[in-house]
Formats: sequence, structure tokens, C-alpha cells
Amino acid sequence: MNKVLAINGAYREGGVTDQTVSVMVEAIESAGAEVEHILLRDYPIEFCLNCRECTQQKGSLPGQCVQHDGMQALVDKIEQADGYILASPTNFGSVTALYKRFMERLIVYAYWPWGANAPQFRKANTPRKKSILLSSSAAPGVIGRIAYGTHKQLKMSAKVIGADTVGTLFTGFSGTERHQTLPEGVRKKALKLAEKLSF
Ligand SMILES: Cc1cc2nc3c(=O)[nH]c(=O)nc-3n(C[C@H](O)[C@H](O)[C@H](O)COP(=O)(O)O)c2cc1C
Repeated sequence: MNKVLAINGAYREGGVTDQTVSVMVEAIESAGAEVEHILLRDYPIEFCLNCRECTQQKGSLPGQCVQHDGMQALVDKIEQADGYILASPTNFGSVTALYKRFMERLIVYAYWPWGANAPQFRKANTPRKKSILLSSSAAPGVIGRIAYGTHKQLKMSAKVIGADTVGTLFTGFSGTERHQTLPEGVRKKALKLAEKLSF
């Protein structure tokens, strides 16, 4: 059975991000794949220490972090998954701090020995997996996607874990209601995108 991992950096329970991920998760499950939805707000991950210990270890497998929190278990889930949904609202022009904290811990996917100017990404030459990127903003979606760093950051995190982006959904006008109902058009787009991970 194929496995899909959704990693969600939203703070707000039931917001646009949660709703969009949930629509996709249900659709992918109904198509017969196994899906796990990780809410980073409930997940025990510390900040990266920039110690670079994990980057000194050679090989295509992620390096071991010196911290013993939930990240190793999450890296194991990433390794076992065949596809990903990577999601974060836009806060001050970027992914949320919650998502960024997770993203910085993805440095375990880099081989970067002392003395080297730049990292080599361990998954650069491995078969590519698939990822769908989701974000939302108060600004119109098309502007948010171009003007903000969110899309680039989500795409970078996909690349680092060895996935190509096969679809993006950037939902705009998401800042007006306290309890925002997912617009029907967004729901339909999410369902269509889910087909790309229902393999
Ligand atoms: C701290 C904060 C910063 C935000 N910054 C931006 C921003 O820079 N641009 C924008 O268009 N919307 C911004 N928003 C609006 C959110 O992106 C929007 O409400 C989003 O839908 C929230 O996601 P959620 O519904 O999943 O909680 C911000 C909201 C908050 C609370």
C-alpha cells in the first residue's frame, strides 16, 4: 500500500490549512492509500542547534541529530512515505515559525562536512517522490504565491526530502472570517490535486 505523509504547519485548529489538508487526506484514504496527518503544533520538535553534527555523517540516509525529541520519528515517517502534502499558512510573508522550525531540522538531509562551503543534499540523486504544496494568505492567492516566500520555502523542503512538486494550492482571501468555511472552488481543487497522490 502506498503511504502519504501530510505535514501541517498551521497554528489554528480548523482553519483554511487544516480544512484543505483534511479534504485531501480523506480523498486519498478513500482511494486506498494510507495517510498520516502530522500537526506540527502538537509535535515535539526542538529548534535546530546549528551544530552540524548530523551533516558530518556520509551517505544517502539522513544523519542522526544530537537531540532526542520527536524529529527522528518524523524523519522515519518521511523516509517510509511515497508522497507528501506539505502545508503552511503565510505569516509575515513566509511559512509559519512552526513550519520553519521543522524545516531547519531537515538539515539532517544534507552532507556538509566542515571545510565544505555548501551542503550536498543526500536525496539529490535518488528516485523522486511526489509532493503537493498547500498555503493560504489574506492576500489573493495568485499574488500570495508570487510575492511571498511561502511557496519557495515549501518547495525547498520538498526538494530536500527527495520530492518533486506535482501540484500547488495557494488559497487567498483567507483572512476575513473567524471561522472560514472552505470555498467550494478550493475544495474541488484540493480533491483534484489529491488524485495526484492517490497512486
Ligand atoms: C501572524 C500573522 C501573520 C500573517 N501574515 C500574512 C501576510 O504576510 N500576508 C497575508 O496575505 N496574510 C497574512 N496572514 C493571514 C493568514 O495567512 C491567513 O489568515 C491564513 O489563512 C491563516 O491560515 P489558517 O486559516 O490555516 O489558520 C497573517 C496572519 C497572522 C496571524
